[in-house]
Parts: sequence; C-alpha cells; structure tokens
Amino acid sequence: MLIFCLLSLFFTVSNGQNYQKLVLVYGEPTVGNGYSTHEISWEQCYSMCYWDENCSFSYYYSSQCSLYQYGNYSIKQLTSSDEKLIAVKRNLTTCPSKTVQIVGTDSYGDNDTVYINRITSDGTFWNITYSSTFQCDNETKLFQRGNYWVCVGVRLIDYCANYTVAGVNLCSSDGWMSMTGPYSRDELNYFLANRGTLGWRTPTLWVDGMGGQFMDVTQNKDTNYPKCGGYSRNDCAYIGYNGYNCVAQGFCYWTSDNTYCWRGATCLRGYVDVS
Ligand SMILES: *[C@@H]1O[C@H](CO)[C@@H](O)[C@H](O)[C@H]1NC(C)=O
Ligand SMILES: *[C@@H]1O[C@H](CO)[C@@H](O)[C@H](O)[C@H]1NC(C)=O
Ligand SMILES: *[C@@H]1O[C@H](CO)[C@@H](O)[C@H](O)[C@H]1NC(C)=O
Ligand SMILES: *[C@@H]1O[C@H](CO)[C@@H](O)[C@H](O)[C@H]1NC(C)=O
Ligand SMILES: *[C@@H]1O[C@H](CO)[C@@H](O)[C@H](O)[C@H]1NC(C)=O
Ligand SMILES: *[C@@H]1O[C@H](CO)[C@@H](O)[C@H](O)[C@H]1NC(C)=O
Ligand SMILES: *[C@@H]1O[C@H](CO)[C@@H](O)[C@H](O)[C@H]1NC(C)=O
Repeated sequence: MLIFCLLSLFFTVSNGQNYQKLVLVYGEPTVGNGYSTHEISWEQCYSMCYWDENCSFSYYYSSQCSLYQYGNYSIKQLTSSDEKLIAVKRNLTTCPSKTVQIVGTDSYGDNDTVYINRITSDGTFWNITYSSTFQCDNETKLFQRGNYWVCVGVRLIDYCANYTVAGVNLCSSDGWMSMTGPYSRDELNYFLANRGTLGWRTPTLWVDGMGGQFMDVTQNKDTNYPKCGGYSRNDCAYIGYNGYNCVAQGFCYWTSDNTYCWRGATCLRGYVDVS
C-alpha cells in the first residue's frame, strides 16, 4: 500500500526539519474536511503540507487537496484503484524502502511540553492520536532519555541528611515518583545549578543508586551517568562534591563533612513513554 516516501525531493534544509519526511499512501480520512482546501496538483498538495508546520497530513482526491492539522483521525486504508492519496508527515532519519513506515510515534519537546503524534494500524485503519498533555511543572525541567521524556528536579531540605532521608523519602513524597540521576551532562548541569545554598557549606545531592539498587525506571540503572573515576556500585551515589562534574559514591549514612552538606536529591517528577 506504500507508494513512496519523499526523501530529499525538497530543497536542502539545514535545521531539525531535515528529518521531516512525507509517507505517501492510498487512504481516505473518515471524518473532517481539513482546515484548508485547494484545487491544485497532487505534488503541490503534499508540498504545501510539508511546508506548513501545522499540517499533519494532506488528502488528495479528484483535484481537491485538503490539509489536516495535528489531531486525532482515522484514515481508511485503500488500494491503488481508489486514487485517494494521503501524504503523512513523519520524522524519520531515512525513508523506508519496503516497509510501511507510516506507523510509528514522533515526539518533540518544546517549552517543557511534549508533543506526541502516534500512528497505529489495525489493518483497516490508520489511527492517528495527537497529544500535548505531558508538561513539566514549575520546579522541574523536561529532558529526553531515549524513548522517555521526563520531568526532573532537585528537592532540598534545610539540613544535612543521609541517603534515605534526603533521597528516598524526599523523592517519593508530594507527588514525586522516585529518585533519579543525571542521564546526561545537560541533566547534571541542571541539577547542580539548582542545588541551592546552605550557609558556609556547599550543598551536595544524593542521586539514585544504593548498593547497586536503582529506583528510576526511565534509566538503565547508572549506565548513562557521567561517572567520576573510581565510581562503583558499592555505596550511595551523589553529585556536587569537590567541584567534580560527575557522579561519585560514598557511605549512605553520610550527611556532611567539613565543607559539604548532603541536603537533597535529584528526583523524577513524571515521565511519558513514546516508544
Ligand atoms: C499554526 O497554528 C497556530 C495555532 O492555530 C497559529 O497561531 C499559527 O499561525 C499557525 N502556523 C501557520 C504557519 O499557519
Ligand atoms: C486525542 O486523543 C487522546 C486520547 O486518545 C487525547 O488525550 C488527546 O487530547 C486527543 N487529542 C486531541 C487533539 O483531541
Ligand atoms: C526528529 O528526529 C530527530 C532525530 O531523532 C530529533 O532530533 C528531532 O528533535 C525530531 N524533530 C521533531 C520535530 O520531531
Ligand atoms: C512557555 O510556557 C509558559 C507557561 O505555560 C508561558 O508562560 C510562556 O509564554 C511559554 N513560552 C513560549 C516561548 O511559548
Ligand atoms: C481506529 O479507528 C477506527 C475508526 O474510528 C476504529 O473503528 C478502530 O477501532 C480504531 N482502531 C484502533 C486500534 O484504535
Ligand atoms: C511556581 O513555584 C513557586 C514557588 O514554589 C510558586 O510560588 C508559584 O506559584 C508556582 N507557579 C505555578 C504556575 O505553579
Ligand atoms: C538515615 O537517617 C535516619 C534518620 O536519622 C535513620 O533512621 C536511618 O537509619 C539513616 N539511614 C542510613 C542509611 O544511615
């Protein structure tokens, strides 16, 4: 049912848009008329969709072109004889050669909101669902971790406390999910920038990982942590010590030393799976 996928037919674009592809298929939307209709050629029709940021797909039938904005739709799958043409926008690195890559999930994050466009097939219909309901609140920040988008943040208490008190307890109360840790250097920098201040002591933060046990389901344990030399899974993990820009390990009952105070943790607020 796949006709073809438009690869580099369009002029070169030098930003994120160069992932944008149109997958061309035979089909017919079951509801709606689109937000704009034109009497143009099929090539002009899908080109128009390609360049319109609000266009999710275009539908072409008997010289009529309709553009559909991002939303929820069902598209009836047809055979070639029907001459009803659909061009669906997908974010793909390469065009499929044989397989129908109309099916899949595209997501992107902007201003702490995740936009998800999911296309499935049940053999009769392609069903498209679009949502932008996953948003990070106030004190948290959005990051992508492979197939997950997460909202993470730093939680603090105003005294020095051990891993259980400052980490486990804090990260699983008030609507927070669990402890987390830096999946990337960007996350590490964000956490460190939000550790606050506490008198003459420098605040350090506990991160997920106690004796090789991990709570955060959006990470493959500590695989992605930027680790300090000598990192092991023997004790408890933390960041912010001694100017180190990495995850270190120390005794879980530590609360402070001469200069440093373990006074909070990196926590997971929520996540969405876009696989
Ligand atoms: C896309 O839709 C938004 C919201 O309706 C609108 O503000 C914006 O101007 C549209 N963009 C284009 C390129 O039409
Ligand atoms: C599409 O449907 C999903 C649930 O299936 C819903 O969460 C979402 O808000 C809907 N999107 C629109 C644009 O109506
Ligand atoms: C498209 O995919 C690329 C690579 O996965 C990603 O970097 C980019 O943010 C995506 N863009 C959109 C608009 O989904
Ligand atoms: C980002 O979201 C906040 C809160 O919803 C809003 O006040 C702000 O205007 C948004 N910024 C942009 C660039 O859309
Ligand atoms: C797809 O949409 C059609 C028509 O709205 C519906 O009958 C069907 O159950 C949907 N399939 C799935 C897998 O959601
Ligand atoms: C954001 O957090 C601050 C401090 O906790 C609070 O005063 C403010 O009302 C919050 N804003 C929103 C939009 O939740
Ligand atoms: C952490 O502190 C609490 C309260 O002081 C204590 O009950 C707990 O045993 C301590 N945990 C560790 C690992 O030291």
